[in-house]
Amino acid sequence: MTVFEATCTAPVNIAVVKYWGKRDTSLILPTNSSLSVTLNQDQLHSKTTIRASADFTSDRLWLNGIEESIPSNNRLVACLRETRALRTEMEAKDSALPKLAQLNIHICSENNFPTAAGLASSASGYACLVYTLSQLFQLPLDHSDLSIVARQGSGSACRSLFGGFVAWDMGEKADGSDSKAVLIEDEKHWPDLQALICVVSDAKKGTSSTAGMQLTVKTSPLLQHRIKDVVPKRMEDMIAAIKEKDFPRFAELTMRDSNQFHAVCLDTYPPIFYMNDISRSIIRIITEYNKDGVKAAYTFDAGPNAVIYAPKENMAEIYAILSHYFPGHVFDDSLSLLKDGASVAALPEN
Ligand code: ADP
Ligand code: DP6
Ligand code: CO
Repeated sequence: MTVFEATCTAPVNIAVVKYWGKRDTSLILPTNSSLSVTLNQDQLHSKTTIRASADFTSDRLWLNGIEESIPSNNRLVACLRETRALRTEMEAKDSALPKLAQLNIHICSENNFPTAAGLASSASGYACLVYTLSQLFQLPLDHSDLSIVARQGSGSACRSLFGGFVAWDMGEKADGSDSKAVLIEDEKHWPDLQALICVVSDAKKGTSSTAGMQLTVKTSPLLQHRIKDVVPKRMEDMIAAIKEKDFPRFAELTMRDSNQFHAVCLDTYPPIFYMNDISRSIIRIITEYNKDGVKAAYTFDAGPNAVIYAPKENMAEIYAILSHYFPGHVFDDSLSLLKDGASVAALPEN
């Protein structure tokens, strides 16, 4: 029996203007626009293989080698439904196409970095799922169209369809057709900008991003201030800083946005703590390092792990400083510096 198969990889992206809050939880429409840097997928990525065959009796998913239920995962079901619907349309128009839309599929995905630990595994994971489906089904969609589907898997995933500097336009429409990723500058734009990831903990976070942000929407007055009075201007400033490759401005905006995101988590009731003591020490170290001029920026997603953005020339020094402050057991057991090098390639063709 014929087996149809596609394998792709997708990179993570780390936001410098954070997405936190949904106005529509099933379509995944955000309460504010956001902006991220896509990291080099040589280091951190998801890799997904999807097979379709008439021999398969049901859809099945393995994540990092462990089978997970598909029917209980609404987001995955939505991505499958959307891509199958498009394939069904194609097959209706062209009878020569193999009938893939009606076959069951087996999905096998691995992340080469900690899953659900605040390092954007849902972003690379769902971007990879949707891109691999589009390759399997040969969908005639561009990356922006695909970002609308990936968004329904995990909001942050829409931004991983592009390399470089990527905005997620919140959009206005109720059906989400204008809530998609937009390339601001590609991965070649600012080669001097690099990222360093400090894995403070690879444990699964206590509060998922999905649950955390909904509690914030329900309870935090500070989020309303952020959405209305802060993010619109910050998006404009961030885009200008990126276009001008103005590192001090990019860095200040990045650190302020990370700080405000974690303040909003603290303003949630009951509060959500994603950073820990090591995370806060990293903030203090970078602040001290920047005292005579901004040479590095920290940012933390929904977890304790730090991402440091800095010009290439400062990276060796930053690595040395962090190694100095977190020597011996902390470094060996729970703090490892996984990678350097940001800026990246778009998704490869299968
Ligand atoms: P993170 O900070 O890693 O993005 P989230 O709480 O946002 O954490 O999302 C983690 C969830 O994303 C996982 O529990 C899983 O459901 C999904 N996920 C992660 N990686 C993949 C993948 N490669 N393929 C499909 N789904 C994935
Ligand atoms: C702090 O995209 O993981 O990383 O849409 O519910 O899957 P869901 O949430 P997710 O949230 C990411 C939050 C963040 C900020 C960001 O990536 O913009
Ligand atoms: Co996530």
